[in-house]
Amino acid sequence: MTEFDYQDGEMCAERVRLGAIAESVGTPFYCYSTAALTRNYAAFRDAFQGRDATICYAMKANDNLAVLKTLGDLGAGADVVSGGELRRAIRAGVPAERIVFSGVGKTREELELALDEDILQINVESVPELDLLSEVAAGKGTAVEIAIRVNPDVDANTHDKIATGRREDKFGIDIEVAAEAYARAAELPGIEPVSVAVHIGSQLTELGPFRAAFGEVARLVERLRGEGHGIARLDLGGGLGISYRDETPPSPADYAAMADEVVGHLGCRLLIEPGRAIAGTAGVLVARVIYVKQGRARGHVILDAAMNDLIRPAMYQAWHDIRPVREPGPGAALAPVDVVGPVCETGDTFARGRELPPLEAGDLVVFDDAGAYGAVMASAYNARPLTPEVLVHGDSFAEVRARPSHDQMVNLESFAGWQETPARRGAA
Ligand code: LLP
Repeated sequence: MTEFDYQDGEMCAERVRLGAIAESVGTPFYCYSTAALTRNYAAFRDAFQGRDATICYAMKANDNLAVLKTLGDLGAGADVVSGGELRRAIRAGVPAERIVFSGVGKTREELELALDEDILQINVESVPELDLLSEVAAGKGTAVEIAIRVNPDVDANTHDKIATGRREDKFGIDIEVAAEAYARAAELPGIEPVSVAVHIGSQLTELGPFRAAFGEVARLVERLRGEGHGIARLDLGGGLGISYRDETPPSPADYAAMADEVVGHLGCRLLIEPGRAIAGTAGVLVARVIYVKQGRARGHVILDAAMNDLIRPAMYQAWHDIRPVREPGPGAALAPVDVVGPVCETGDTFARGRELPPLEAGDLVVFDDAGAYGAVMASAYNARPLTPEVLVHGDSFAEVRARPSHDQMVNLESFAGWQETPARRGAA
């Protein structure tokens, strides 16, 4: 039983009918379950119970303020990758001492913001960033605790676009030369190298690559300690996968036990940065069928959601289960259809030949496991408004991000000074 299941013939989020939410906010919309967020967070918290560990939720997966507040209130910290995410985390009440800042391209302004907010740690990914951070920190007369994110040259065995720990990937400092970077860091004013960070990719479905990367990190920590660095924290990154279709990823408990085996003897405080494994199964995208069209090869089910709302199928050939909101009868025949959006390119295809029960115009469908990397990756392509977001809690729901109006969307734009502003129809 998940938090998104049929009750009396209609799919509900917890105890709220998705049809009722659709009537209230319109379609398409993202819907998140507080109970699922809580359960997924608790799985990590319980897995690391008794260890000195902090779960810094990777908010790139879903940065909605109400989602952050839900997790922050449960005790989560945040892994942020931009000044915008840092501001959101603070706005949602996540304490600065539970925030880490990752990312290959932090600007001077972002580093200044991080220092002003006095966050727990900055994960430095290059020597030029180290030098700039030192300059900024020293300029403010302060010192900052850092990790160097190392690139362990481990293949995460995941989709090419989301593997980050191979030598050729843009992330981190090659583990082979990391000791030199630590030596430099120790000499620089304003820098306290107290931590090592690693993150090898996302949607990992086996422990082996994590084990290999953490093993490399453990060896590095021993060497760094031997060279006099006081390494007290490890940031093990995120990456634990979820089951979109038939994957069988390890549980947070298996992951924690493996981390214990590989790095436990170091006695470090652990930071972990799960994103997808917390938010992924806690959200769905709900869309309405606009037309059903019989093509020469197959039927096309045309939805009011498109690749701009959920880009994962177009971008990573990702699978999301699609289910009708009205529960199909027990004998409903399945037939293969292409499920598409209205955007003007063939890439706007959610699924080809998907076996679905009969659907008609007006029916609602859900895309499962869309709580992570769904709304955050949406765009306004084709001048389509960003999808609203709804949070459910028991039998209550709240719209936690509204659909922008057309005026709100165009208000940031203006005509150039040399252009005549066209008269607006209906304007006096
Ligand atoms: N920490 C760092 C430094 C990261 O780069 C990421 C994800 C995470 C943590 C969280 O990883 P997770 O636990 O969510 O796997 N848009 C892609 C996923 C991109 C992941 C980027 N980095 C997708 O839709 O599959």
